[in-house]
Amino acid sequence: MKIVITGGAGFIASHIADAYIALGHEVWIIDNLSTGKQENIPEKAHFIKMDVNDPAIHDLFSQEKFDIINHHAAQMDVRVSVNDPSHDARINILGGINIYEAAKNSGVKKIIFASSGGTVYGEQEIFPADESHPTKPISPYGVAKLSNEHYLYYYYAVYGIPYVAFRYANVYGPRQNPHGEAGVIAIFTQKLLAGQQPIINGDGLQTRDYVYVGDIVKANELAISTDMQGAFNIGTSIETDVNTLFRHLHSLIGATCSEQHIPAKTGEQRRSVLSYNHIHQQYGWEPSMEIRAGLDKTVEFFRVQST
Ligand SMILES: NC(=O)c1ccc[n+]([C@@H]2O[C@H](COP(=O)([O-])OP(=O)(O)OC[C@H]3O[C@@H](n4cnc5c(N)ncnc54)[C@H](O)[C@@H]3O)[C@@H](O)[C@H]2O)c1
Repeated sequence: MKIVITGGAGFIASHIADAYIALGHEVWIIDNLSTGKQENIPEKAHFIKMDVNDPAIHDLFSQEKFDIINHHAAQMDVRVSVNDPSHDARINILGGINIYEAAKNSGVKKIIFASSGGTVYGEQEIFPADESHPTKPISPYGVAKLSNEHYLYYYYAVYGIPYVAFRYANVYGPRQNPHGEAGVIAIFTQKLLAGQQPIINGDGLQTRDYVYVGDIVKANELAISTDMQGAFNIGTSIETDVNTLFRHLHSLIGATCSEQHIPAKTGEQRRSVLSYNHIHQQYGWEPSMEIRAGLDKTVEFFRVQST
């Protein structure tokens, strides 16, 4: 198939691009390289340096007639969205609409979208959250992700374009960006490798659901090989607190520093964990990477990078 991936120079989507190419698909990447890196782009991909808001995307889509649009480009820093909601919305909402409008008359068979299970539900009432959990995002980033899901439903209902919205938990692994939703892993790893002192916000008992990027790739493979349609959580159903992460990384790296805390950041979500039952029951997806093994691979990546 002919697949265009937005954000394919970034952490998650570059792994998806690698996998689609390995499966024999023709992969095109659109990325403005704002946080993505040229070195992440697979050699066999066609790369177009372009912003998701560029009107030229309409001509590109009508000329190339992609089978699949996999939309991962985003401003992915929750704090940036809080400081400048308009900037976030320009990329994360208007950029999405530009992509979907360009897709509308181009014969696309499916749109896959990177949503965020860590933010669309807001403060969780049920642990783990399934897809029927109330969606009350408490950041502009989460509002933007959820509104893309509503737009995608609109294009599905009115124009018949199937879509998959993956509500990812906190994704970690090689190539990850310190500003992303699982940024704490990259930050702690880089500091510990450099012999510096990582700092834990608050008591360190705030939890997240950390899912390995290889498991995210498997879900994106299923999305193009099955009739998958609608919103699906992609997580592990396991809550890991920041202190535990710190201790795992500390021992994997063989660090000697102590555990240091500062007062908690205001407004930080306390707990987040997703049920993956829906995609498991329907398509057999389940996470396969245990956290310590995944952290080991991540540390290895940053170790090589730092030498
Ligand atoms: N990392 C996580 O834990 C996580 C969790 C849930 C959802 N997501 C979503 O997954 C997607 C990928 O995230 P990531 O962690 O790989 O981040 P990333 O920053 O590594 O990747 C985003 C990519 O989009 C590109 N980009 C940004 N703005 C652009 C624009 N205006 N036009 C074109 N390209 C643009 C960047 O250059 C980058 O290559 C994002 O949509 C993010 O919101 C990530």
